[in-house]
Order: sequence, then C-alpha cells, then structure tokens
Amino acid sequence: MNARNAEQNTFRGMPRLILIVMIVVSATMGVVQAHAELSYDGKPYLTWQGDPSTTMTITYHTMEEPAAVLAVYDKVGTSEAFRYREVGESWQIYGLEDGRFINSVELTNLEPGQDYYFRIGDGDTFSDAYMFRTIPDGDEPIRFVTGGDTLAGFIFEALVQEVAAEDPLFLSIGGDLAYADGDFAKIGRWDNWFENWHDNAVTRDGRLIPLVLAIGNHETNDLEGGFETRAPFFFGFFPQGGNVYWAHQFGAHLGFIILDTGHLVPHEDQVDFLEEKLLAYQALPFRVAMYHVPLYPSHRDFEGSRSVAGREHWLPLFDKHNLSVGFENHDHTFKRTKRLRNNELDPEGTLYIGDGNAGVFPRIPEEGRWYMEKVSRDSHFWVIDVNADEMHLRALDRNGEVFDEVVVHAAPSTP
Ligand SMILES: [Fe+2]
Repeated sequence: MNARNAEQNTFRGMPRLILIVMIVVSATMGVVQAHAELSYDGKPYLTWQGDPSTTMTITYHTMEEPAAVLAVYDKVGTSEAFRYREVGESWQIYGLEDGRFINSVELTNLEPGQDYYFRIGDGDTFSDAYMFRTIPDGDEPIRFVTGGDTLAGFIFEALVQEVAAEDPLFLSIGGDLAYADGDFAKIGRWDNWFENWHDNAVTRDGRLIPLVLAIGNHETNDLEGGFETRAPFFFGFFPQGGNVYWAHQFGAHLGFIILDTGHLVPHEDQVDFLEEKLLAYQALPFRVAMYHVPLYPSHRDFEGSRSVAGREHWLPLFDKHNLSVGFENHDHTFKRTKRLRNNELDPEGTLYIGDGNAGVFPRIPEEGRWYMEKVSRDSHFWVIDVNADEMHLRALDRNGEVFDEVVVHAAPSTP
C-alpha cells in the first residue's frame, strides 16, 4: 500500500544474485535496515473501542505520514465494489526514535455477526483486501481464545497458528505481550511481535482475529507521568478506549471485564467499576474477568502484594456476583483451580485459569497448593466456547493437542 511494500513485492520476483547485490548496495545507503525492522509495515490489526457487534478499529503503521488514512469496506457477499469509506487519523509515539506513524480507522454502524472485506490506504493506493467478522448479538455461540505472557518467539508462533485454526471470533491477552517494558530502546521486540502476529493470526477462512488486551507489568516503565508516558506502546499501538479497565458484552451470553492488577491504577480504584459491570451483566449466563497478576498464583508467592490486593478488593465482588471464570496470567505456567468462593473450596464457586504461558519460557508451578486442581509447564492458549447453558474451556498446546478441558455451567444471577 506504500512505497516500502511496493519495493518488497518487487524484490520477490528477482533472481537471488541480483537481490543480494542490491542488498549490499542498499545497505551502504542505510535502506535495508528499515526493511528488516519493519517488514510488517502497513499490515493492519484489529481492536475494539466500541461495541464489538457493530464496530471495528483497524490500525496499521507506516514510516511516512500518509496523505490520508482511509478504509474502504463492504459486506462479504456483495457483488458491488466496496461501497463504504471511513476516514481515520494518524499519530506518533512521543519519544519513539523511528518516528513511525500509527494510523487508525474506526468503522461503526456495522451489522452484527457479519463478515466484512476492507482495504486501507491513503486515497491514491490501497492495500490488499482483508476480512473480519463482527460479533453476533443474538443467541449464536461465541468462540474466543485467551492466554497471556506471549513474548514473540517460536512458541507464540506455534500457539497462534494452532488457535487461529480454531476460527475464534477474538483473541484476548491478559498482559505481558512483547516484554518491551514501555522502553523505546526495546521497540524491536514489538516489531517482532507484530510480524509474528501478522504471519499467523488468520483464521482458516481468511479472517483477521481482533485483539482484546489487558495491561501487564511488562507494558509499563518507571517514568513519572500519565498512561501514555507509563505505557507508551500499550496505548500508542492499541486503540481500546484509552483506559486500563473496561468491559464488553460478547453476544447474548457473555460479559467480559478487563482489569489492571495495579500497574497503572490500584486495585481499589477499580472496585466501583467492577461492581457496576458485574451488576450490569447479572442477566447474562456468564461473567468473566481478565487481568494480569493472579489472585490464585501457581508459581509465585500466594502472599505477593498484587495477589493479596486482588483477593482483598476484587474477590468479595467476584463471589457476591458469581463471576464464572477469572482469566489469570503472569506466572508462566498452566493452571486450573478448583471452584472457589470466600477463599475456600466451593463446587458452585468461581473457576480460575491461567497462568500466562502463551509463548514466554515456562516456569515450574508449585505442586500441592490447596486451591489447585491441575498445574503443569505446558505452553498453551485456552479456546473457549460459550452458549446459553455452558462455557466449554479447552487448553491447547503448541501442537494443537487438547491437554485439559472443563465445563462451567451458567451461574445463578444474584438479586
Ligand atoms: Fe507479568
């Protein structure tokens, strides 16, 4: 869609010897390095700022400021050229030396459960066509993926390939994506992450998979300042509404709450929001929460300050309002707890799964903790199917094998 991509496409058809000569010559001109660092340049990725049934936010990076940020789009199945057009905006991350432009377009007034094609461009040239699907808003089952602590190596690559083949409607990551620590010097880790994501996060029928992202400790630095200073990549790269705690309803049966385990906002400051959302989702069969540091850790200390804060400030609300499942991360293991309520075993209580092992080097879980049903070192994502009656959770390893499985039935609503 831009000069850089056009050059890359040109390279593909060239004899290898000519290409090598060109690379040597170009390297002396400082050109090749930019290609190597930004080979994903221009490819789009998806998040949500609004209702996931009727909106989609498309974002892509370019090294030059585009003349315009545009998306043309239409429903899959129409015989006409793309009839709709939306204008977006560009920004840069203050302090990021490469000066890239992050370009983003939010599509609104979409139809629920509908496949769309889109192209991104600057008005003169447009990209290849990509496809996404909005979330159904009726009784249809919802399939999604969750995990955390990804890094961007061969394990993440294999896991994303396996879960993309499951055709999920979205993939949620509960913090610690690229391990760049909000540090501009580690931008290469994000380049690797995006390249990895673009190469693998496509469903069997060619859809891009939207991301839902919570913040982790490795998204933040130690600087003084607001959200954009403390977590410049998390906010600069991923338009999700500008906060670290928010919620979406996915379909008719699932309320999905995203929280910050004290990296930018203390646990106690999210209590009112959490209760408000748990109450708003009482009529739904399932309420889940995704966050980074576990209330019920599998590797780290049970008395760790962020785990204690989660149990002190959030657990009473999880219990009171029958949270179905907590998606926990950060410990780099596989874990599935027993059902828990009031910090005790309760067969009707909340299930906690984790523990953030979707690409990072696995740790050894501690065996024998009273709240744990199963632990291992297996790298994995969870693939989760939700309908009106049950959530069916499957843990997939990097070979695509299901090595753990559990069903949660609809929780009774509280008055
Ligand atoms: Fe972490």
